[in-house]
Amino acid sequence: MNVLKVAICGGGRTGHLNAILFKQLPDVQVSLFTSNQDIVDHHARQIPMQALMPDGSTLSARPDRVTVEAKVAVEDADLVIITVPAHARPQVLQEIAPHLSTTKPVYVGAIPGFCGFDWLAQATLADKPNLVIWGMKDVPHTAFDLKPGRSVKMGGGKSQLYVATHARETQASRQQLQQMLSRLYGPCVTLLDHYLEITLTPGNPIMHSSVIYGLIGPYGQWHRKIFPQRLCWWTECPELGAYFLERMDEESQNLCAVISQRMGVDLSSVKSLKQEIVEAYGEQIRDRSSMLSILRTNRAYNDILAPMVPADGNRPGYVIERQSRAFNEDVAYGLVLLVEMAKRFELKVPYIEEVLQWSIAYMEGLRDSALDYFPTHWPRSA
Ligand SMILES: NC(=O)c1ccc[n+]([C@@H]2O[C@H](COP(=O)([O-])OP(=O)(O)OC[C@H]3O[C@@H](n4cnc5c(N)ncnc54)[C@H](OP(=O)(O)O)[C@@H]3O)[C@@H](O)[C@H]2O)c1
Repeated sequence: MNVLKVAICGGGRTGHLNAILFKQLPDVQVSLFTSNQDIVDHHARQIPMQALMPDGSTLSARPDRVTVEAKVAVEDADLVIITVPAHARPQVLQEIAPHLSTTKPVYVGAIPGFCGFDWLAQATLADKPNLVIWGMKDVPHTAFDLKPGRSVKMGGGKSQLYVATHARETQASRQQLQQMLSRLYGPCVTLLDHYLEITLTPGNPIMHSSVIYGLIGPYGQWHRKIFPQRLCWWTECPELGAYFLERMDEESQNLCAVISQRMGVDLSSVKSLKQEIVEAYGEQIRDRSSMLSILRTNRAYNDILAPMVPADGNRPGYVIERQSRAFNEDVAYGLVLLVEMAKRFELKVPYIEEVLQWSIAYMEGLRDSALDYFPTHWPRSA
């Protein structure tokens, strides 16, 4: 079997876990590109990385290369996997682009591939026809408790992994990609027909923003107040947040229906958020009667803390962190995209828009966003 050269970009939880899992396989070479010098130092001292598995066992591995230099990480890669959050992807792509091979196909993808990764990669890598752009709908496993360079804990895995490619890719490239990913993840990799099936799948962008709006937005019970202690995202989710989430979920489904009809794309695989959560967590949800009860009684969501920081000015208590990923990633790269897509089809999404405008004000304006790469002429260019 040919050696498969994989470059993982991003030394976070997802990056570590995938690097360790891939190194369990024969004939897979793994490079890890990170900006964290500590991870490089651990590697240089021959310290293996460990994945603590859900069944209590441990996997150990030492990637072939761990480096802060983009060239060293990607110059001979067959497959590049970007595992940094959406707002960090533009910089990573710019750093690696000049060093990717021009003489063989290189499969450049993002895990997870939401927030329009296909559009970003097309905009950044337009002059490189040998690159094949792809994304995975979700992370293959949850990963948490990272000790950089040393260990990471693996949570639940997905039974099916859904992957899409940029619309420009050929059938042969798509098949090749499926083979590569099946070698890494097993036979559970399914190719989707259209990248929009990933982009329009509802998830964190509407979940996080609606809950924050319900807590501290203009009608929230914590508006302009300080929380006495840190709050759990879901078990303490406010009714108002669940209400906005349900409305935003409906608007997101309407957007899907309009895009499907006007562009002639089959988006029947895109389910409502409620259905996604119920199907994903099944028996772990005690009460499925409403969005609120689904969020509050899902065992898998227990104890996940909302992003909070101590209040300033020596005041006791906590406030929602303006610099959190719930804003920089989910709002600036997720919600913004939904509203812009709706605008292009002259579809009204008033709940999403209300939450977006408030969130932008709370985060004190957008510095960068998915609009930096969203195609100007979409959907005409599609
Ligand atoms: N962990 C999970 O279980 C899980 C579940 C669902 C979805 N996701 C999604 O998967 C993606 C990666 O998540 P993760 O949990 O692996 O993240 P993470 O542990 O926080 O790691 C992200 C890595 O990205 C790099 N990075 C570069 N710029 C960054 C920035 N401005 N902010 C944060 N990180 C930056 C850093 O790596 P370097 O220092 O090496 O550059 C960082 O370690 C995110 O989109 C997340 O929403 C993760």
